[in-house]
Amino acid sequence: MANIKIDGKELQVPDGITILEAANIAGIEIPHFCYHKELSIRGSCRMCLVEVEKMPKLTPACSTIIKDGMNIFTSSEKVIKNRKGILEFLLINHPLDCPICDQAGECTLQDYVYKYGSAVSRFAEEKEHFERRKELGPHVLHYAERCVLCGRCIRFCEEISGTCELEMFNRGVRCEVDVFPGKKLDNKLSGNVVDLCPVGAMVSKEFLFKSRVWWLTRTESICPLCSRGCNIEIDSRDNKILRIRPRPNPEVNSQWMCDDGRFGWSFVHREDRLTSPLKREGEELVPISWANAMNLVKERLSFIINNFGREAVAAIASPYLPNEDNYLLRVLLHSVIRSPSIAIYQPAQAEEQMVFPSGFTIEADKSSNLVGAQDMATVDGKQPISHRQLLQKVASGKVRALYILGGAPRISLPVDEREMLRKADFLVVHDYAPSELTEWAEVVFPNLTFAEREGTFTNFQGRVQRLKPALLPLGEAKADWEIVQEVCQAMGGEMSYPSAEKVFEEIAGAVTGYKELCYKGLGTLGKAKG
Ligand code: SF4
Ligand code: FES
Repeated sequence: MANIKIDGKELQVPDGITILEAANIAGIEIPHFCYHKELSIRGSCRMCLVEVEKMPKLTPACSTIIKDGMNIFTSSEKVIKNRKGILEFLLINHPLDCPICDQAGECTLQDYVYKYGSAVSRFAEEKEHFERRKELGPHVLHYAERCVLCGRCIRFCEEISGTCELEMFNRGVRCEVDVFPGKKLDNKLSGNVVDLCPVGAMVSKEFLFKSRVWWLTRTESICPLCSRGCNIEIDSRDNKILRIRPRPNPEVNSQWMCDDGRFGWSFVHREDRLTSPLKREGEELVPISWANAMNLVKERLSFIINNFGREAVAAIASPYLPNEDNYLLRVLLHSVIRSPSIAIYQPAQAEEQMVFPSGFTIEADKSSNLVGAQDMATVDGKQPISHRQLLQKVASGKVRALYILGGAPRISLPVDEREMLRKADFLVVHDYAPSELTEWAEVVFPNLTFAEREGTFTNFQGRVQRLKPALLPLGEAKADWEIVQEVCQAMGGEMSYPSAEKVFEEIAGAVTGYKELCYKGLGTLGKAKG
């Protein structure tokens, strides 16, 4: 440890850290542009210069390592003069774009100028102009005039994605960031440069001019599009998602997320979302009330149990849906219907795991909760069977009624499995939109997407993380655990969980590995299961 003084505050900090990091520990802000915690130090913007006793010149806080006995001043007259000067230089060619810039409200330059800058400009000449809104890749647009040349985007492509598409070209006032000739900023992590850019120079094509950021409601949740479960922030307005960005979790996704997750949420707003229960009438699915749907399910399941036995009813848990849904499905099967037949849908892995130089990976398993679904459906160490094995029982006539927790349209069955599924006498499906499964279902319950509900996913590392609702439920759709609970009640089961939290409390008492966990205790970053 080193004993130092920052702005008169005495503190002990670990050896080897920088002045900037020590100031963070002390809760003192040192403005900076080029420094980023997850990238190498470049020391080029000079915004972070501070005064250190016995050093003749100001020194960069981002690259100067703490020494025992250092006496640091972060807001001395010299430091303030330097900050003002740097900001004045940056504003020489920076356009007055704030009223139309996507970054306004989240712009580091805007904030620093407001806090530390000069109120007047001495620059009377014409500003340099560059091409505006240049398309660097499928998701990223570049406004070179707004760039402060911090180099974060370039280092990201070198060190994190390892794709090296970006560089600084030209010198002096014509210096600009661009892609190498013939290249595109087209890698699976490209959207992260938008988050990294301290100003509005890198902007998202999808979010451009969609909303002023102060109108957005922010919800901390989990990305559902692969088994990593990146921690995300859903920004919504008027019950619509407008953008999704990563939020830091060193145990899961550092500060990053892939473009598939960032831009892959449009299914939430599909035109054909299911908004009420449906029942089959010939070739058609027609809307019915919840009460009638429950009665129909009760009647048909009871008929099959009475005529073919309890084992003729089976269920398929979903790796796309939270633990609470899959747990109550198991309760429905094992405790209410008293059938042992529960299986898990095993997603086919069409892609390979992608590993980036920084160690960040995009998982091959595109389901959000395979580990959790397996945990919820395992009883006394006995693992659930695969959906294929269960469908073979349907084809052989041993299983007559099938209850499938959806998560489709991502569920896609090969032709032979579809043929086996068609042999079921009675099929109940939960889903948020028409799918391969709803085509054959006799009753369809409309469920909520990840953006409209609570619950927990267990990622591939065994980390249990909480979903939070960013949007109001659509139509009459409900969370799957609520639907399964109503079916349990219709079948004579006694349970009335008022919330996903209460279901999780029960999981913590009943499922191996979840015993030490509590719903609120999962916090915003989740906890590893035992
Ligand atoms: Fe920095 Fe943004 Fe310019 Fe890249 S585009 S150098 S991140 S200001
Ligand atoms: Fe230190 Fe840029 S943050 S020089």
